[in-house]
Amino acid sequence: MKGKNIIVGICGGIAAYKTPQLVRLLKKQGANVKVALTEGGCHFVSELALATVSGEQVYRKIFPPTFTENTDYTGHISLGEWADAVVIAPATANTLAKLSSGLCDDMLTACFITLRPGKPVLIFPAMDGQMFLSPSVQRNIKTLITQGCTVINPESGELASGLCGLGRMPAPESILGYLEQELSSATLHSPLRGKSVVVTAGPTREKIDGVRFISNYSSGKMGFAIARAAAKRGARVTLITGPVHLETPFDVDRHDVESAQEMLAAALPFFRSCDIFISAAAVSDYRPLAPCEGKMKKDEDEIAFTLVKNPDILAEFGQQKASGQLAIGFALETQTGLDNARKKLSAKNLDLIAFNFFDRKTSGFDVDTNILTLIERDGITTELPQLPKDDAAGKLLDAIEKLLPENLH
Ligand code: C5P
Repeated sequence: MKGKNIIVGICGGIAAYKTPQLVRLLKKQGANVKVALTEGGCHFVSELALATVSGEQVYRKIFPPTFTENTDYTGHISLGEWADAVVIAPATANTLAKLSSGLCDDMLTACFITLRPGKPVLIFPAMDGQMFLSPSVQRNIKTLITQGCTVINPESGELASGLCGLGRMPAPESILGYLEQELSSATLHSPLRGKSVVVTAGPTREKIDGVRFISNYSSGKMGFAIARAAAKRGARVTLITGPVHLETPFDVDRHDVESAQEMLAAALPFFRSCDIFISAAAVSDYRPLAPCEGKMKKDEDEIAFTLVKNPDILAEFGQQKASGQLAIGFALETQTGLDNARKKLSAKNLDLIAFNFFDRKTSGFDVDTNILTLIERDGITTELPQLPKDDAAGKLLDAIEKLLPENLH
């Protein structure tokens, strides 16, 4: 934190009473802190208290009430240019809406727009649980995430309304921890910066006829989390995805495909040029040999059709890869499959395989968490705990970074 320029944004929610403590903690760590307080925030925390703990004037309105020869006419731009990071705690539904749509009618929203590319923005929404879960708030949060912001969900507990539930802002100590992580050299000085990373994600669909297909339950969440995390570390990310209902992560080049054959065709042009190929897609192993045109009739009591093997995209990359290129796979297993995962690692010529167990509750398809065991090409095995997929993606990238040719000693 030492010497880092941090803007602390405070909006009008009761949790604002905790934020002066965050400012103190940041100052103690040696950060330079400027506070941007919204009109609503003024009702919950005093400007004088914030000016005292930050040792700086508090930034509120874009237009000062009076103009003198000392007035800084570019203040709304220079605040954003000055910042190494912005943390908004608490963030209200109103400010989330402004930020996501590009409104800038106060210093906080203006500095968000003028922030330099790549500077972290951490947003801590805190409000009544129903408000937080409303479709408009959720939509605005999604937009901000795709723009590259990190949004930390509120915690559950006692609320100002007297109710118990979702909506509390995390403690200032914990907000500081999130910020430290976001500003850590692992994220800001990642060896992935500038590397070309290709990620496959989601299921494939294999046509039976014009209206039916074979597929699986994959949601694409793990692959998208990896793409998002790699882009945050400064990689040039290409995401090749089967049909999913997910927003494209910020700064990621997305290619939509349906079948395994289409996925291979989309991936092939990157085989020679990419540095890292991460195959998180749940590619159908087989496809109907001869899909019917139009819609199959249900005249017969029984029908049979032949399935043929699909290309193994990852294995093809593993075979072709030049020295220095990394091939990373997943091994989703329904039985104890660590040995199977090890076999795939060597059969497909991979550098790392992430084994995950399929239970549809804590790990595997269509859930928000995953329990990964990372097996490296030399056999080193790391068991990770149950983690949100974004965090699991971070751990996977940490392991991949260590395998990059320049990091091998
Ligand atoms: O052999 P298995 O399908 O279990 O291997 C899993 C790994 O191989 C995953 O990383 C998956 O994305 C990849 N794969 C592939 N093409 C296939 C089948 C699997 O790229 N046809």
